[in-house]
Amino acid sequence: MDQPLVTIRDLRLQFRTYAGVVQALNGVDLQIYAGDVVGLVGETGCGKSMTGLSLLGLVPKGGEIVSGSITFKGEELVGKPESYLGAIRGAQIAMIFQNPATSLNPLFTIGEQIGFIMRKHQPARKAEMRNRAVDLLRMVELPDPARILDTYPHELSGGMKQRACIAMALSCGAELLIADEPTTDLDVTVQAQILDLLRRLRETQGVAILMITHDLAVVAEMCRRVAVLYAGRTLESGPVDQVLLAPKHPYTQALLKASPRRGSRGTSLQPIPGAVPSGLNPVQGCAFGPRCTHTMQRCEQPPPRMTVGHNHTTSCFLYAEPGDR
Ligand SMILES: Nc1ncnc2c1ncn2[C@@H]1O[C@H](COP(=O)(O)OP(=O)(O)OP(=O)(O)O)[C@@H](O)[C@H]1O
Ligand SMILES: [Mg+2]
Repeated sequence: MDQPLVTIRDLRLQFRTYAGVVQALNGVDLQIYAGDVVGLVGETGCGKSMTGLSLLGLVPKGGEIVSGSITFKGEELVGKPESYLGAIRGAQIAMIFQNPATSLNPLFTIGEQIGFIMRKHQPARKAEMRNRAVDLLRMVELPDPARILDTYPHELSGGMKQRACIAMALSCGAELLIADEPTTDLDVTVQAQILDLLRRLRETQGVAILMITHDLAVVAEMCRRVAVLYAGRTLESGPVDQVLLAPKHPYTQALLKASPRRGSRGTSLQPIPGAVPSGLNPVQGCAFGPRCTHTMQRCEQPPPRMTVGHNHTTSCFLYAEPGDR
């Protein structure tokens, strides 16, 4: 297979806070191939957004990548100066967020905001940029694109705002779009339309998508591969049909039992007992150990990553060979 577009290996990110050091990411592994749609799932606080922001070189203040690697098209991003990361951001890797209203500046028209990004990465004559902006709004299937260029964000509905954000994100031809819960704040019909649009953009523009979501139904519909995070670590990753239909890690199994599925109305959901460990006091061995029903003595050690199927790995001693530590 070709070289992946993105490879994240054993990424660790810490925040220094007044309460102490918070271990936000504690061993994230992830691969994204060109044109692929990869889901990133896990309970709240497990590190999905921090993984996306690390990829973009936008770790919030107080946070620091302490070890691990992120390569984009074979180039290491960790440790690169802001000038290098800023040039990649927008032009090659872009992000859309949960709340499109806060991603847009209320003081400028949609056209002006697309213009700001274009001028930064691919400056051109005003008329040409306007034509390109119209094409972009058409690409995200906004009606009457020439008129929408001159509107302010408050004049658009939530779904239209998210479409405008996607247009901005892709305005410089990004090859990877990080979508962080892109439909959580939208109503159900608009959610489905935005997911359809993202799927079509992957097909027509070949853009790879990292789909950050807590909704496993979205992963089943949209993604080819999925990585399951827990307490800042990748516990399982593989093709969606294998991970969702035959999950290996007890955490993935528990997450599926706790999630509603399409077409399963009436079946009761089973919440996962216990709570995610705090990043202030990370668990020494398997992070899921304290909540797991299969815990063994050796779970006090961190479990290594094991191959459990084609391109399918998990970190759990249940799948270790007798000689493995
Ligand atoms: N500014 C910060 N200061 C300290 N710790 C932080 C900060 N931002 C994030 N964290 C830590 O990083 C962890 C991961 O946060 P992240 O936002 O990536 O979670 P998430 O999986 O995106 O959750 P959600 O589903 O709620 O969006 C959190 O549990 C928190 O402990
Ligand atoms: Mg998040």
